[in-house]
Amino acid sequence: MSTFTKLSAGEQPSLSVYPRHKLNKINENIYGGFTEHMGRCIYGGLYDPTNPNKELIDSNGFRKDVIEAMKELNVPVVRYPGGNFCATYHWMDGVGPKEQRPRKPELAWLGVETNEFGTDEFMKWCEAVGTEPYLCFNFGTGTLDEALAWVEYCNSTQDTYYANLRRKNGREEPYNVKYWALGNETWGPWQVEQMTKEDYAKKAYQWAKAIKLLDPNVVLILCGETGHSSWDHHVLKECVRFDTHSLGGSTTASLIDMHSIHIYTACNKDPVKNAFAPLSAERAIEICAGLIDLARIENGVPASVPRQTICFDEWNVWDPMRAPGESGAEEKYNLSDGLAVAIWLNVFVRQSKYVGMANIAQSVNVISPLMTHKDGIMKQTIWWPVLLFCKYMRGWVVGSHVSCEEYGGATEPQWIQAAKETPWLDVSATINDDGVVSLVVINVNPEKDFEIEVEGVQPKAGSVKRHLITGKSWDVINTNDKQEVGIEESEWDGKGKTVFPKRSMVMLRWQS
Ligand code: AHR
Repeated sequence: MSTFTKLSAGEQPSLSVYPRHKLNKINENIYGGFTEHMGRCIYGGLYDPTNPNKELIDSNGFRKDVIEAMKELNVPVVRYPGGNFCATYHWMDGVGPKEQRPRKPELAWLGVETNEFGTDEFMKWCEAVGTEPYLCFNFGTGTLDEALAWVEYCNSTQDTYYANLRRKNGREEPYNVKYWALGNETWGPWQVEQMTKEDYAKKAYQWAKAIKLLDPNVVLILCGETGHSSWDHHVLKECVRFDTHSLGGSTTASLIDMHSIHIYTACNKDPVKNAFAPLSAERAIEICAGLIDLARIENGVPASVPRQTICFDEWNVWDPMRAPGESGAEEKYNLSDGLAVAIWLNVFVRQSKYVGMANIAQSVNVISPLMTHKDGIMKQTIWWPVLLFCKYMRGWVVGSHVSCEEYGGATEPQWIQAAKETPWLDVSATINDDGVVSLVVINVNPEKDFEIEVEGVQPKAGSVKRHLITGKSWDVINTNDKQEVGIEESEWDGKGKTVFPKRSMVMLRWQS
């Protein structure tokens, strides 16, 4: 949590961090990824067996550079196979001998799915990366029987048909897939089998019951909308219930463990509005956490059942007009987008009390920090804040306070202006298990550098490490040939004032 005092023009800003005030543990799953059969994410991203540059490809056909990049981020969990793709995906098409797998028309992004890459390939890729899989059921053309068969295929140790099919396909041990989503954006008019909230809630609850009967160890994720909609309110009310009958008599379990929400932000025309737009997600999380509590209160869910958390399993900067999904959504991110992503990540850290998982959409090529080309990868502007957060903003959130002027203009969406404070300096701070404090300050101001004393910076040993992300202008982008935005590193003795330059992100780290 970070608190804010609004100053008038000309008053001296200040910043305090309280490393001894640990607020809550951060669930590392907030640094999750997402890979969908869409554009060049899977084919050409994760899997690229026909790339002429053989050195880049391993014996499974996976891109080694992508695996290395995922490892560098230490990505804890990756969602698959979509997204909208899930609504017509039949997992059985993607297992067994590759030459027998059917080529099928794909209705989410209007392409052809070869099914060369499927469940076993994804599991292998996760093992290579050292990450956990998170799978999403087909709530469009799929059946409950198919969903149960998928769970059995992935997780069962019994002598049963689908567990044996997995063995036949070369995998003796179960994959133990823990996270499963009950559909994706089933409220959306673009979905095959768009549903009403009433129909969805009924179906999700019944599927959840059957799936937990088969495997009580899975974590089930309900399909929400933005976190601040009547859909979220309704499906939470109907599905976050206390029904010991469905739970085999347990008073500590829950059919629904998490609630998924999605938000993409963007404001093409104004870099400041664009950078502040993720504050809408902060309010969405707060509202959604309230709706979870409301459902529990109204349904008499006892405290012995752990509070459901938010699974923010799609987030990023994306303007679908600028980078349409049907064309592969290859966004080119500029400095303003980089700072927006930094604010997105500050939001997740500040609200980590409520967020059990968050997945950047997506991990490779499609609206992504990472772009592959024939001979390597290009790191977009948004890669750099993602890297710094993934590396350092783990452990515990600690208190911080900023006093500065506020951005007073219009916001995108416009309701942020009334619902949220918009300090020019957006702040979060953490302390890890080794006592290293990390403080992130994003200065969205287009003209002003802020030179400030930071109270609470007392390095026990060594000096303060300083990581700066900025660029010559709001609209600079990185390309295969030129990196305009990266990380500049320096050191500071922690004494006196330090500068937070205009349109920048600064991370300070020191041993406490
Ligand atoms: O991430 C791209 C798409 O955005 C996903 O498939 C869908 O869930 C969302 O609308």
